[in-house]
Amino acid sequence: MKKQPEDIFRSIILYVLNVCSCVVLTHCGANTLHLMDGTSTAEVINGDIFFEIVDPAELEYTYRIRPAKDFGAPFNESFHVKNVPLVPVSPRYGCKPPDNLDDVEGNVAFIERGECSFKTKCVIAEKAGAKAVIISDIDHSSEDYFIEMIDDNSSEEVNIPAAYLMGKNGLMILKTLEKLKRNYAIINLPVNLTFTPVHKMNQPPWLGW
Ligand SMILES: *[C@@H]1O[C@H](CO)[C@@H](O)[C@H](O)[C@H]1NC(C)=O
Ligand SMILES: *[C@@H]1O[C@H](CO)[C@@H](O)[C@H](O)[C@H]1NC(C)=O
Ligand SMILES: *[C@@H]1O[C@H](CO)[C@@H](O)[C@H](O)[C@H]1NC(C)=O
Repeated sequence: MKKQPEDIFRSIILYVLNVCSCVVLTHCGANTLHLMDGTSTAEVINGDIFFEIVDPAELEYTYRIRPAKDFGAPFNESFHVKNVPLVPVSPRYGCKPPDNLDDVEGNVAFIERGECSFKTKCVIAEKAGAKAVIISDIDHSSEDYFIEMIDDNSSEEVNIPAAYLMGKNGLMILKTLEKLKRNYAIINLPVNLTFTPVHKMNQPPWLGW
């Protein structure tokens, strides 16, 4: 039986509500009307970008991240890393130069939120030779939110791109790497999903949408 337009419209609304519930701390960029004529993921996500983990297999999904609002380099056309390690820094808050400098250098630093500003973490990671920074708050109280990373207005400059990863994803990545006794995951950043429909995205199953 053919679906009535009302039904389709209702499912779209439900879908959009569902998506928005995952991004409570921010406004949702979805445009409900355009979803019907094949809206691309890019239009729905409103400036967020994606990276994918290609190894280990347990983490092989596509992850949405939110670029820092007003500091750091942009994730523009000249920024692209392929098959590069995503390395959790040690100590984990990244507020001082990493003990695992050799692993961080030339790769993407994974840093936990806390103890110092987002920008300070990025300045330190850049000095350690990181190509980009991904920050996540693995504290349970904010695991479902995107947090806007804003400038702390210090005079330092950040010249590498930085983005925020939802806590639930950050936690799963860390836990899985720990379980596998691995110091890093291999990622592609960004992945271009401009023409990938939202429902075809390879979202991590633990997000539940
Ligand atoms: C991308 O951003 C970097 C850092 O700001 C800049 O040097 C580069 O020219 C930009 N590339 C493009 C294609 O806009
Ligand atoms: C930084 O400065 C801007 C503009 O003056 C202000 O809106 C913002 O709240 C400041 N941020 C912090 C963390 O102090
Ligand atoms: C993604 O790919 C499309 C088509 O290949 C291109 O037009 C678009 O500029 C790309 N977007 C980004 C962010 O690279």
